[in-house]
Amino acid sequence: MGNSKTLPIGIFDSGLGGITVLRALYHQLPKESIIYFADTARLPYGNRSPEELIQYVREILTWMEAQGVKMVVMACNTSSAVALDIIRSEFKTPVLGLILPGAKGAVKKGKRIGIIATQATVNSNAYKNAIQEVDPEAEVWQMACPDFVPLIEANRINDPHTKRVARQYLQPLIDKNIDTLVLGCTHYRHLAGVFKSILPNHVVCVDPAEYVVKATEQELELMGWKNTSPPLPTQFAVSGCPEQFAELSHRWLGYTPLVEGVDLEKLIAAAPISAPQQTSSVQPPKFS
Ligand code: DGL
Repeated sequence: MGNSKTLPIGIFDSGLGGITVLRALYHQLPKESIIYFADTARLPYGNRSPEELIQYVREILTWMEAQGVKMVVMACNTSSAVALDIIRSEFKTPVLGLILPGAKGAVKKGKRIGIIATQATVNSNAYKNAIQEVDPEAEVWQMACPDFVPLIEANRINDPHTKRVARQYLQPLIDKNIDTLVLGCTHYRHLAGVFKSILPNHVVCVDPAEYVVKATEQELELMGWKNTSPPLPTQFAVSGCPEQFAELSHRWLGYTPLVEGVDLEKLIAAAPISAPQQTSSVQPPKFS
């Protein structure tokens, strides 16, 4: 790639969850330009099959590559758990996922680890396997929390119902006497205050977003792709309603973004994704 330093990093999620990764990127890598894609037309991802998820991620990566990104960060645990390995073998752009950075972060904090995540992430056992690979002595309990994403996307953060739902999901993990809780869906960081009010004080929350951004920085340094000039404004695109995303994301961004609507399915129908590309070019080491 020519002058890769100044090219943007692409990040994507089903919706508002990836903003937690975006904020970590702003904080830790303030010089990077970013393109954020939210697949809001097909949200939530957590109830989708692996086949559907892999196809969605393929479409997003195809669009991202057309935008000229230097790297893609999956700001979505569900995609990372289900599609990362396949997608990496199909695209030449380096792609980072949340699972391994999150697992490495979790084992630094404790030995009795609870995972809260979408149903698809729990079904994949990706976190459980990654944690036990890094630390075979760690004990892991998983809890699928399918109600959280719809509640967060409906902006019902402070609704008493949300707290009741959270208590139901967290209590079985508290009963296991966990010392660490992995927020295994990027949306969940938006409920950090609710979790704090329910969890015993000694339980440490781990947000994999912080760790994937550290891995992104290492990768950029390794490739010599870290940007040194001022970044461009973040570009936002969604597959659903741009106005709705602009309005809802204000709460988490602190500003109202300009959001473009992208019809991925139409784009792909106009230029179908061909057989997976062979990646003969040098692949960077896998951080996640
Ligand atoms: N925020 C995503 C994740 O980290 C997807 C949630 C969803 O759409 O169900 O898994």
